[in-house]
Amino acid sequence: MTIQWFPGHMTRAKRQIEEKLKLIDVVIELLDARIPQSSRNPMIDEITSSKPRLILLNKADLADGDMTAEWSKYFRDKGHATLAIDANSGTGVKDIAGKAKELLQEKIQRQIDKGMKPRPVRALIVGIPNVGKSTLINRIAGRNIAITGDRPGVTKGQQWIKSGGELELLDTPGILWPRFEDPIAGFRLAATGAIKEDLLHIDEVACFVLRDLVKHYGPVLAERYGLTDLPAELADMQAAIDVLEQIGRRRGCLSGGGHVDFDKAAGILLRELRAGKLGRMTLEAPDEVGDTPGTKSTE
Ligand code: G4P
Repeated sequence: MTIQWFPGHMTRAKRQIEEKLKLIDVVIELLDARIPQSSRNPMIDEITSSKPRLILLNKADLADGDMTAEWSKYFRDKGHATLAIDANSGTGVKDIAGKAKELLQEKIQRQIDKGMKPRPVRALIVGIPNVGKSTLINRIAGRNIAITGDRPGVTKGQQWIKSGGELELLDTPGILWPRFEDPIAGFRLAATGAIKEDLLHIDEVACFVLRDLVKHYGPVLAERYGLTDLPAELADMQAAIDVLEQIGRRRGCLSGGGHVDFDKAAGILLRELRAGKLGRMTLEAPDEVGDTPGTKSTE
């Protein structure tokens, strides 16, 4: 899904989610486990502050398990419930209702104390485009439902998707804009396929992501592409260009005159990264939050 976000769209998206918050108990914030910070909407805390939040680290099948554990701790320390899932295969999805209930334990206990039967937890899924909202809703619904973005006059036609008597989900997710004002997040979003790479130069995206890959997974990268003399970190853009050139030569991405076709080399690297061919990888760590302009936590 490609959405062009303009100030008017952002204001409308924010307002639509605020309207839906009146109907629900818990916000389910979906993030990409490979880029948990870059895939967060920058205003999420402000927009959803009135409700407890369950953070789902989706696409955990493609992310580094140790890093996912670190990110889960990071969000738990901020007072949110967390769960790593893979909406495609369904791993972790059955635990969502239990986690959501944990957030409302006191409220549920009060209902029980009053002799009331607790009703299912009502939730809204929110997240940026391509993070897996529709996949997750379909999985919980157990069928394919046409999921569309909100149109004016929204909430009227909304349905509740019921899951096991414990969870009820609004069938239309809250779609929020990504953190594109931060260039680093922009490159990471493009590298994982969350935003169209043709909005940026593919060779630039590849060089940028190479900095993350070398920093966190140098030996894996060296092994896959037969790279020699790979430093522990890439000091600057030129160092990244040199690595991309080596990858291009190794993979036979040559244009006339024996020069490396950088776009082709970048395409191979990004395709293999997204498909998980390099292994399970996470591009950012919790201790980097706040390192760069625009990535500061708002909490
Ligand atoms: P959205 O509603 O938030 O916009 O996202 P959507 O569910 O459409 O998912 C976007 C892409 O992410 C889909 O790929 C979907 O299969 C994939 N996806 C969702 N959850 C997971 C997950 O847990 N693991 C993995 N590996 N992939 C997941 P797609 O339709 O094939 O799009 P594309 O791959 O062609 O971009």
